[in-house]
Amino acid sequence: MPAVAVIGAQWGDEGKGKVVDILAEHADIVVRFQGGNNAGHTLVVGDETTVVHLIPSGVLQGKMCVIGNGVVVDPWVLIEERDALRSRGLLEGDDQLKISDRAHLILPYHRAVDAARERIRGGGALGTTGRGIGPTYEDKMSREGLRFADLMDVKSFPDLLENGIDRRNRYLTDVLSAEPVDYKQMLDDCNRVRDQLGAHVTDTSVFLDKSMSSGRRLLFEGGQGTMLDIDHGTYPFVTSSNTVSGAIATGAGVAPNRIGTVVGMCKAYTTRVGAGPFPTELNDEDGERLRKDGGEFGATTGRPRRCGWFDAVLVRQAARLNGLDGLAVTKLDVLTGFEKIKVCTSYDLDGERIESFPASRTAVNRIVPNYEELPGWSEPLERARSLDDLPANARRYVKCLEDLTGVPSFLVSVGARRTETIILRNPFAS
Ligand code: IMP
Repeated sequence: MPAVAVIGAQWGDEGKGKVVDILAEHADIVVRFQGGNNAGHTLVVGDETTVVHLIPSGVLQGKMCVIGNGVVVDPWVLIEERDALRSRGLLEGDDQLKISDRAHLILPYHRAVDAARERIRGGGALGTTGRGIGPTYEDKMSREGLRFADLMDVKSFPDLLENGIDRRNRYLTDVLSAEPVDYKQMLDDCNRVRDQLGAHVTDTSVFLDKSMSSGRRLLFEGGQGTMLDIDHGTYPFVTSSNTVSGAIATGAGVAPNRIGTVVGMCKAYTTRVGAGPFPTELNDEDGERLRKDGGEFGATTGRPRRCGWFDAVLVRQAARLNGLDGLAVTKLDVLTGFEKIKVCTSYDLDGERIESFPASRTAVNRIVPNYEELPGWSEPLERARSLDDLPANARRYVKCLEDLTGVPSFLVSVGARRTETIILRNPFAS
């Protein structure tokens, strides 16, 4: 049975939530495999807007949701999100949400370390979401993290927690000059988490394997975007997980040859939140206009997003790294009214043409983007349901993105609502 993945091809916030919500109609199970509640997906259905951070966006379609082992989970955020969805009649049965017993817990000391480090970095801050994501992945890699399987082990958990807290408190107070966390309070809180979430905890790799073997359709939902990948992104201005499609195998416990079609998400322009290089950034009224018309404020932190022209170099890089079969291009409607629209086709670095993002953190600041200029359009696009409904220049723009990235469009989004979408190809049918 086909499994489909939706992966961010830029710096996150490409509109994955909306597209996963649409594609989830054809899936049985929606799976997250990396990141945590640094992600934020805004879903608009009818007049209701829902933001989910941890629970896969397929939840609004009433599909089974899985949080894989590669995700770092703040259990208090998860409880709040689950309960809010339950009050709307979703996720009512415990088996509608499954959490990997190998997923790592984000605990209050991780958040405290994240905040203190950013404070100390001052002007050199990474602009993290402050959710404790990095420190939790650090503990995972240094083999000092706590997993749901540990939480479920009533006898050994108090000692494991105490060990972690002693070490972290020393680091918080002595190195970061921050407040320590209270062990007793945290143990009580964790015991309550066990009662609240225990029924969802299972070996999700085994569950997904059986599900695929019995013909159920899986949809993998990426968090963040390719340029925030810890290896392939704009290091060090990246998140702490691998965000590319290869991470599905490790982060969901699903063999790579069972992942079928990969859909790359990109906006019709580019945005990023937080610090770091951004070659096509617009620090002028065009950038201001994209931010205002596109409502470019973070779903998780509310921060204004930096905005710029579409960068085909990035999306080509994403096509290579993820094996993109198709693009889902979002927010085309936001470009309505621009007389001319620019698209970055390549970069120059120290007088030489380059076709991919350099690794050097100093070289990235010397990139000079090369642009192609296309004519804009003035007609609103929200009612378009096929490419033929678009003005000729908007069609030409979409075609230009396909040609420059070498990837065909599967979907073009022309508004926030589910219905404001042009579907060209259903990845579950390919
Ligand atoms: P962290 O993931 O909170 O450690 O933040 C590291 C970087 O990734 C910062 O620049 C964040 O703004 C960015 N980031 C993390 N999650 C997202 C996301 O879901 N969308 C966009 N940017 C994100």
